[in-house]
Amino acid sequence: MTKNWEQELIAKAESRQALIGIVGLGYVGLPLAAEMAEAGFRVLGYDVTQRVVDTVNRGVSHVLDVPTERLAKFVKQGLITATRDESRLSEPDMVAIAVPTPLSKTRDPDISYVLSATEAVARHLRPGQAIVLESTTYPGTTRDLMLPALEKSGLKVGTDFFLAFSPERVDPGNATYQTRNTPKVIGGITPACTRVMLALYQPAIETLVPVSSPEAAELTKLLENTFRAVNIGLANEMAIVCDKLGVDVWEVIEGAATKPFGFMKFTPGPGVGGHCIPLDPHYLAWKMRALNYRTRFIEVAGEVNSQMPEYWVGKVTGALNAHRKSVRGAKLLVIGVAYKPDIDDIRESPAVDIIRLLEQLGGDVSYHDPFIPVYKEGDVALKSVPLDAAAVRAADCVVIVTDHSKLDYAMIGRESRALVDTRHAVATRAKRGFQ
Ligand SMILES: NC(=O)c1ccc[n+]([C@@H]2O[C@H](COP(=O)([O-])OP(=O)(O)OC[C@H]3O[C@@H](n4cnc5c(N)ncnc54)[C@H](O)[C@@H]3O)[C@@H](O)[C@H]2O)c1
Repeated sequence: MTKNWEQELIAKAESRQALIGIVGLGYVGLPLAAEMAEAGFRVLGYDVTQRVVDTVNRGVSHVLDVPTERLAKFVKQGLITATRDESRLSEPDMVAIAVPTPLSKTRDPDISYVLSATEAVARHLRPGQAIVLESTTYPGTTRDLMLPALEKSGLKVGTDFFLAFSPERVDPGNATYQTRNTPKVIGGITPACTRVMLALYQPAIETLVPVSSPEAAELTKLLENTFRAVNIGLANEMAIVCDKLGVDVWEVIEGAATKPFGFMKFTPGPGVGGHCIPLDPHYLAWKMRALNYRTRFIEVAGEVNSQMPEYWVGKVTGALNAHRKSVRGAKLLVIGVAYKPDIDDIRESPAVDIIRLLEQLGGDVSYHDPFIPVYKEGDVALKSVPLDAAAVRAADCVVIVTDHSKLDYAMIGRESRALVDTRHAVATRAKRGFQ
């Protein structure tokens, strides 16, 4: 008699006997490992980067959202271990893949990490494994790319092994919503795949949201991030419109936000950054180009958002001009280089463009960021300088790019000779007081 793998996996999930494999122990994979361990599962992390494997095995976290004390506890209890040994991928009952999905130089999806992770899993696939992709990707990746690779084993999806897509929604630095209490969407290739995944995630995630297919789950994630990109683009365009009309955009936004229905507040800024908002919509645009359809909202939002660094550099030029100064030779203090407040991630940060443009104009740039002690992008290598009244006073112009919460904005506002505040931080945060 053939084994009923669905029932076996569900029983293993309920008894916490299932071994959870996580491929890629980064911003997404490590928090998931911690939640699975918290739920009582043993977790085997697999990562191709030796440094990541070593630090995790020492119980040292390289991801801010997972405090080292928490990780160390799980490692000590034997609940989390990490390996670079691919052959061990046959051990876990569930394998969640959370590897990078960047864009290539030509801004096409770079699916090579998902492909190589899938091939590694496929080489060791055994009956009774449940595979789930968490990386953000274009619709069709799970079915068209992963399924054939896994079925090469001769095993059948939905009976011998299970396959689903479940997008990660982690918001690094968010104090309210983490992996456990952020609802999780799951779409299996077959209904049995969805049922197995629901059972496996259920002990670790408070709310699970099954959808009818991996494509629906893949598109859910892309809609969420495209929605953000488009609305941030609208807020940024509104900032430019208000500037030209001589109206305070922040007052307009606060005014609109008093409407209790039909409006959602988005704020302008230096542009968009991080691994998600600037990249994910391009996955959808690329897929649709292949179907001869142009996703116009995505293009326009990308255009507006990517022009914001240049807009703000124009504001620096203007602020210096008002003091009869040029950017060339001016001392410019950039505050915040991470792509958003209170995180240590600089990927795709608009600060990188702003600093590059200011340097190109001959500015003498220094920066302060409590989360990024060293900055190295292209030819520019800098060290974070201490932020005190003397440093602020010494700058010809201060540029706030990222409004980390624990900075003294009242002091910055008071001491700076010229200020370009892309986040409206001095007005909003200084009012709340130094936190
Ligand atoms: N960071 C976020 O805020 C966030 C939020 C939601 C979704 N996502 C998505 O999650 C995915 C992962 O992003 P991340 O930020 O965790 O990336 P990351 O770079 O922090 O971590 C990825 C890890 O995968 C490892 N890796 C790469 N190729 C591998 C392979 N073939 N086998 C095993 N390990 C491999 C890397 O060494 C690294 O440790 C991406 O698709 C991203 O779009 C990220």
